[in-house]
Amino acid sequence: MKVFLQTFGCQMNKLDSAIIESSLRDAGYQFVDNAKNADVVLLNTCSVRDHAEQRVMSHLGNLKHIKETKSDLVVAVIGCMAQRLGDELFKQSAVDIVCGPAQIAEIPRLITEAMQEKKKAVAVTEKIRQVSPDAQLLERFEIEYSGDDTDIPAQAYVRAMHGCDKFCSYCVVPYVRGPETSRPPEAIIEQTKRLAQNGVKQITLLGQRINAYEYKAGDKTYCLADLLGMISKIDGVEWLKFVTSYPSQKYFKEIVQAMAELPKVCRYLHIPAQSGSDQILKAMNRGYTSAEYLELLDTARQIVPDIAIAGDFIVGFPGETDEDFAQTVDLVKKARYKNSFIFKYSPRPGTIADKRLEDNVAQEIKERRNHELLKVQEEISRALAAEFTGQTVKVLVEGPSKKSHQAGNLPQLIGRTAGDWIAVFNGPPASAGETPRLAGRFANVKITRTTPLTLFGELF
Ligand code: 5AD
Ligand code: SF4
Repeated sequence: MKVFLQTFGCQMNKLDSAIIESSLRDAGYQFVDNAKNADVVLLNTCSVRDHAEQRVMSHLGNLKHIKETKSDLVVAVIGCMAQRLGDELFKQSAVDIVCGPAQIAEIPRLITEAMQEKKKAVAVTEKIRQVSPDAQLLERFEIEYSGDDTDIPAQAYVRAMHGCDKFCSYCVVPYVRGPETSRPPEAIIEQTKRLAQNGVKQITLLGQRINAYEYKAGDKTYCLADLLGMISKIDGVEWLKFVTSYPSQKYFKEIVQAMAELPKVCRYLHIPAQSGSDQILKAMNRGYTSAEYLELLDTARQIVPDIAIAGDFIVGFPGETDEDFAQTVDLVKKARYKNSFIFKYSPRPGTIADKRLEDNVAQEIKERRNHELLKVQEEISRALAAEFTGQTVKVLVEGPSKKSHQAGNLPQLIGRTAGDWIAVFNGPPASAGETPRLAGRFANVKITRTTPLTLFGELF
């Protein structure tokens, strides 16, 4: 049986997909890279913005056509959209299985049933704000996950936390991924040891608010700093990253201190601000002011002066005025991010912002602010990138770059630094057969030129 699995959205979805792939390979399924050659199509979906959902809907339209000539094809919508829409998704005639993120351990069984009994099945938790009854099965799958199915060699995501309790007013995540729960440190350690034994060198711990990690065992409470210390001791793990951080005081100093003291912990913090206007931050229910946010960045830079910081912003939140937006521009300038992810506000059904606030910033103003903020960020990124010229950086090689071959037939490789900068460099001549072997290894690259998002150089 052949499966085509397509993943939309964030790293958490990529991890879920890797676990699903691993469990299905164990059950004897093969993976193909095209829906037309598949017996089973799995779409692991994202609900964070409307655009992501629309893309899935259009795929479902195409799958309907494929099914007209291939009626045995099983189509499953999994992930956040499945949880959000439930059996409403059966209005799309292509859909056979709907399975939420808390239920992914059930996927092998659901596929078998769909094939044998030809009935539609839905597996979403009705009470998503309670821990799923499948949590134990999923936990077993996570611990047994071998790390073979990641898109980047020698790197694996490890979930530290499920869900989110923060309920930022614009965000659908707490409704589709359920309550915030931290996995026990011993499970995370066991899983990480297994991954390291399988050759994984970089571990990225995942959580919607990873710095809120907290696990009580007897009279000891473990925070993220403790976890970083424990994972640092595992042989084979060389780089340790964690995303995404939430701007809050609790444990912040301890975590940055751990970054300063533990050589394996990468000096990189992804800490979304979302807005620079206190009024908008309040309407977003973020729980901090722009001054408090900047203080956190100052603390981080005092303890780890060369830390690379990335942010997220939403422009065009309901009620955002030119003055509010100017404050966001000001914050971006002060924060000096290495890069920012900038999004136009997209109302999500069921969220507080959608229920109580009118989406009253015109689309063209959202576009303009998006563009302007990108420009501001680009100049900062350009200046920060330029500082690397002449330096030699260590990267974990991911593989050939998209524009893989250039004149002279040297394959171009792509790698990432500990601070999450992308480096592009010429690999050894293809004839030497070294290129595939460099993927998943560390390399030193001497930087010769830079653009805002990329460092270019030569193997050193
Ligand atoms: N509209 C636009 N962007 C959003 N994000 C989350 N919810 C929305 C929304 N409703 C952005 C935030 C978050 C990132 C993952 O997606 O910036 O940090
Ligand atoms: Fe969404 Fe806020 Fe939770 Fe992040 S912290 S997942 S933005 S609710």
